[in-house]
Amino acid sequence: MFVPSCCPIARSKQYYFWRNAKLDRQLARNDESGFCRPVEESKQSAGEGFEDLAWIFTCDSRNRGLIRQGFDEAALLWKAVKATSGNILEVGRNLAGSTVLLAAAAGPPRNIYSIDNRSNEDRACKDYLARPEHKARVHLLVADSHVPLPNLRFGFLFIDGDHTFEGVLADVVAHWNALQASDEKPALVAFHDALPNQNFKWRDADRNLNRLWIRLKNKSRKRQKPEIAPDYEPGVLKVCDELIHQGLAEKWRSAGSMLVMEKLAELPRNFSVAARKLRHPSPTISFSSGGRHSQLSRQISRMGRSQASQVSS
Ligand SMILES: C[S@@+](CC[C@H](N)C(=O)[O-])C[C@H]1O[C@@H](n2cnc3c(N)ncnc32)[C@H](O)[C@@H]1O
Repeated sequence: MFVPSCCPIARSKQYYFWRNAKLDRQLARNDESGFCRPVEESKQSAGEGFEDLAWIFTCDSRNRGLIRQGFDEAALLWKAVKATSGNILEVGRNLAGSTVLLAAAAGPPRNIYSIDNRSNEDRACKDYLARPEHKARVHLLVADSHVPLPNLRFGFLFIDGDHTFEGVLADVVAHWNALQASDEKPALVAFHDALPNQNFKWRDADRNLNRLWIRLKNKSRKRQKPEIAPDYEPGVLKVCDELIHQGLAEKWRSAGSMLVMEKLAELPRNFSVAARKLRHPSPTISFSSGGRHSQLSRQISRMGRSQASQVSS
């Protein structure tokens, strides 16, 4: 039943509960593939710090401010920085909220190299990064992230730039082999927008009119558009999937759309060629067709059943 949001029924408590139950059923149907739920449902903590308590908050896209992440995603980023040592490379800083978080979590003497192809930093973030304790070790580079930074090694990569398949692939090819474990700490890489999540569930619940409009337009379209916009970037997931598929990485933890993986091996020369050839079915296809699950979705599914934490392991 479609009820326009201007209608008084749409404002009633009963309608509100019915609508949320419907949305939950819809998400549950998607979850039958075993993809979303293991990542999202987990609630218990796997650690002792404040960053392990994201599960006591409501975390979704409404948490975004100068950092373009949910609270749980930012908490995981913080945790991943703390688990590593050595230099940090950030691909995509936008307003520089994430650069502030990386600088604060890492602390001196770790160096932060942040690449963006434009300078769009918020004044408050710039001022924070210009403080004496950060200034000399935070490097705000304006460059194309697809080009490697020569002679630098990193203990942690945060990839959040060009989200297309080719874009993420180019970032991985450019920087993967500069990622190295050090001081007996793991070499970790975080990808934002990699996983299906519930960051926009609140927003989509109120978009009945918008969805009806898309449904009507789809009737005359050759290529139909989804009524609910994807909440992650399939290209990012595909590259992550390929890294796991080839045994180069394994999942470390995830929260919201953020996937953190541990590096296991160097990138082979033919990685891009293999990645383009071996296009695994996207999770969206897996959801609807019940077809072959990707390597990553199987791994997340297995891990999700055995472990539980919002910043999930
Ligand atoms: C999603 S925003 C980054 C958000 C930021 N990490 C945060 O959490 O607040 C993506 C950024 O990547 C940058 N970007 C896109 N393609 C790029 C490329 N090839 N090289 C460098 N930066 C790129 C964009 O300019 C944009 O500022």
